[in-house]
Amino acid sequence: MTGETPTPHEALLQVDNLRIRFGEHTAVDGISFDIAPGQTLGLVGESGSGKSVTSFAVMRLLAPSARLTGAIRFRGQDLLALPEDKMRGLRGREIAMIFQEPMTALNPVLTIGEQIAEAVRAHHPKLAKAEVRERVLASLEEVALPDVSRRYGDYPHQFSGGQRQRILIAMAVVNQPALLIADEPTTALDVTVQAQILKLLRRLREQHGLAMLFISHDLAVTAQVADHVAVMQHGQIVEQRRAEDLFRNPQHPYTQRLLAAAPTMRTDRAAPLATLR
Ligand SMILES: Nc1ncnc2c1ncn2[C@@H]1O[C@H](COP(=O)(O)OP(=O)(O)OP(=O)(O)O)[C@@H](O)[C@H]1O
Ligand SMILES: [Mg+2]
Repeated sequence: MTGETPTPHEALLQVDNLRIRFGEHTAVDGISFDIAPGQTLGLVGESGSGKSVTSFAVMRLLAPSARLTGAIRFRGQDLLALPEDKMRGLRGREIAMIFQEPMTALNPVLTIGEQIAEAVRAHHPKLAKAEVRERVLASLEEVALPDVSRRYGDYPHQFSGGQRQRILIAMAVVNQPALLIADEPTTALDVTVQAQILKLLRRLREQHGLAMLFISHDLAVTAQVADHVAVMQHGQIVEQRRAEDLFRNPQHPYTQRLLAAAPTMRTDRAAPLATLR
């Protein structure tokens, strides 16, 4: 307990006037957004606009050289003021993250079963071995990895890119977090596999009430998962609205340009993909 009384609030995550500087460079310039339990916020913007830095700030994984002001509240508790041991208790337990490149995020010398088991034991050190294994298998089944009990002892390189992303998602959700941060989770995958992973994320959200911060440079992809969308440019949020309103009637010139650059949104791509299994 930090002695801080959590403010009763609908939001699970509340980012309030967050500013992140690296020396003279302002990477994030006073952004604010909320994510309610079970809701997905899409954070969209061009390369360098500050999306990843924002997600690392929520996980408190930024380099010590980063200067942060503002507040990041999770269940009313300011993460920027939380001692590191308390933060370690949240990270991977209540707030989990998946990254763009599934190969680099997995340890090549450990079997996938061992890696996910490690994630379980980090937060449940007293759990019996058999129980840990059961949780790992359940989460691999949850992400629809085929043949899980046989493949538990396989190494990351023995899987396809799409399967590795499923394994990373299994590792992220194995402790049943309330918030999942997904930073470009499908960018490295081809379109068909991308659609399957998006479908999986939607299912996890529906079945577990998982809230998501979904980061992408691709509006068409974001449209498939987000309830609300925040558009970032040069470290600022220039437009933030319900997804269908933003796509139907973008207000900011930068959003209009992003939409114009994503012709697939209104035409071919979304429709056939939505029917893929
Ligand atoms: N450790 C760091 N030191 C200095 N500057 C940094 C550091 N990390 C990020 N930046 C800067 O912060 C800005 C935002 O970077 P960020 O990685 O958040 O962009 P992004 O929106 O995720 O881009 P992309 O779509 O390419 O992933 C960039 O100008 C980047 O150079
Ligand atoms: Mg990034």
